[in-house]
Amino acid sequence: MTRIGIGQIEPRIMDIDHNLQQLKDILRQATKAEVEVLVLPELANSGYAFDTMEEVEESAESIPKGAYSKQLIRWSRNGRMVVAGINEKFDEQYFNSAGIFAEGNLLDIYRKVHLFNKEKQWFSPGPIEPPVVEFLGHKFGVMICWDWAFPEMARILALKGARMILHPANLVLKYCQRAMETRALENGVFTATANRIGNERKLTFSGKSQITNTKGKVLLSIPDEETGVSYVDIDLPIADRKKLTKMNHLLKDRRPDIYRRLIES
Ligand code: ACM
Repeated sequence: MTRIGIGQIEPRIMDIDHNLQQLKDILRQATKAEVEVLVLPELANSGYAFDTMEEVEESAESIPKGAYSKQLIRWSRNGRMVVAGINEKFDEQYFNSAGIFAEGNLLDIYRKVHLFNKEKQWFSPGPIEPPVVEFLGHKFGVMICWDWAFPEMARILALKGARMILHPANLVLKYCQRAMETRALENGVFTATANRIGNERKLTFSGKSQITNTKGKVLLSIPDEETGVSYVDIDLPIADRKKLTKMNHLLKDRRPDIYRRLIES
């Protein structure tokens, strides 16, 4: 069994100190709960609803050198992994990224491929497919928020062997939680979506962070007014069972020869 935790928080736009303090609280809770793999929301270091590019620039950090990343690295020592959304400055560009840290190291960075709404004004889109990392003998895939609307992303992660999709989010629409039940079912993977709550400028975030099993059943859902860490103990190798019937395998039954249209621009 692996203890998977999701942290539901309420970052404040541009309030770096508040966001760092909140991170320390949530990491303390995760330590107390003996969480082994923790997922935190998207853009947790900076908040979400930017008004200007200057705000994006002022609140961005480098991964892994920034203050938020350093806290995450420190927590990840002693047999833990954490994935968190970070407003990242890299190479004079800004990305809506997820830092993936384990055992005191940076394992990988995922830069969000599908930018939502005004994010297109602030961030460069990520240039490569979502990553799968290995931890405690299991493969975990990472994608960010609006990537939920592109089933290709979850499918790529399943094809790369992910047993679970870790999914930092800042949800403003109400469809994602249900969609992730389907992403789980159609790929035979566990999913963990960490969302935020609260209001920023004109946006309201929907909470209801959730963990699903491989059949799309919601194992855990955090009420939308709460912050904190909740967790489930999961038998991750169940995700290797890809048959829905004796004769139907979710990945081997695919027909890429029929799907050419999917890779045309
Ligand atoms: C979103 O991608 N933050 C909706």
